[in-house]
Amino acid sequence: MAWFKDWFNTSYYHTLYGQRDENEAKLFINNLLNFLNPHDGAVFLDLACGKGRHSFDLSSHGYKVCGVDLSTESIAEAKKLANTHLEFDVHDMRKPYRLSHFDYVCNLFTSFGYFDEQNDNLLTLSAVFQELKPNGVFVQDFFNASKVQKNLIPYELKSIAGIDFEITKEIIDKRVIKTIRFTDQNEDFEFQEKVSLFDLEDFKTMYHKSGLDLLHVFGDYQLNAFDPENSDRLILIAHKP
Ligand SMILES: C[S@@+](CC[C@H](N)C(=O)[O-])C[C@H]1O[C@@H](n2cnc3c(N)ncnc32)[C@H](O)[C@@H]1O
Repeated sequence: MAWFKDWFNTSYYHTLYGQRDENEAKLFINNLLNFLNPHDGAVFLDLACGKGRHSFDLSSHGYKVCGVDLSTESIAEAKKLANTHLEFDVHDMRKPYRLSHFDYVCNLFTSFGYFDEQNDNLLTLSAVFQELKPNGVFVQDFFNASKVQKNLIPYELKSIAGIDFEITKEIIDKRVIKTIRFTDQNEDFEFQEKVSLFDLEDFKTMYHKSGLDLLHVFGDYQLNAFDPENSDRLILIAHKP
């Protein structure tokens, strides 16, 4: 099974990353909406929404939001937040979901670059193109690959909820490979995350191939300018002509 189908669907993934910063997500959505200034009634797709934290924040501003994710476990959890303006669905981002339906598609918190085949990344961006209405806007929030490479911590031990997670990170073939090993109830587990170290030039090339026009590039959740040396994030705003 592909690592991203397996690992993101386990309870251990949520145990390890359980303390995600909800305030940071809220502030990012506020900053993003101030910048984008969507019209009343705009429709958003939160692509790879996880348990729906950004979807929920977007909908709390009055927009109609659909969150989709491959993980049945995460979508089951997200559905607890659903209301008339907020829905969730299990879906693989490599395939288009509702053609020409969305004013905005968001892909947030490094939810990209997981695939072994580059064609799958292109299929995902082509699906985004098809999901957007003409003039629709794509927001992609990815890590800053050069900073990830520079600050790579090769080994870490994190003890959470009685489990010792041993985490190693290495770079192989322009991908950061994170291996997570632990024992729970006398059973040994090992999972891997593999994320491509795409930089701005890589995204420009992929967007061009997918028909998306890159409009703006930011480097953090406050939407400061992107600086390849120091920015924490690579946040791209693109447009479907
Ligand atoms: C790093 S998490 C981020 C989740 C969410 N955006 C957030 O910020 O909380 C990446 C998400 O991508 C989802 N994912 C991985 N591969 C996917 C695919 N092929 N299609 C849809 N979702 C996928 C995972 O299940 C996981 O929920």
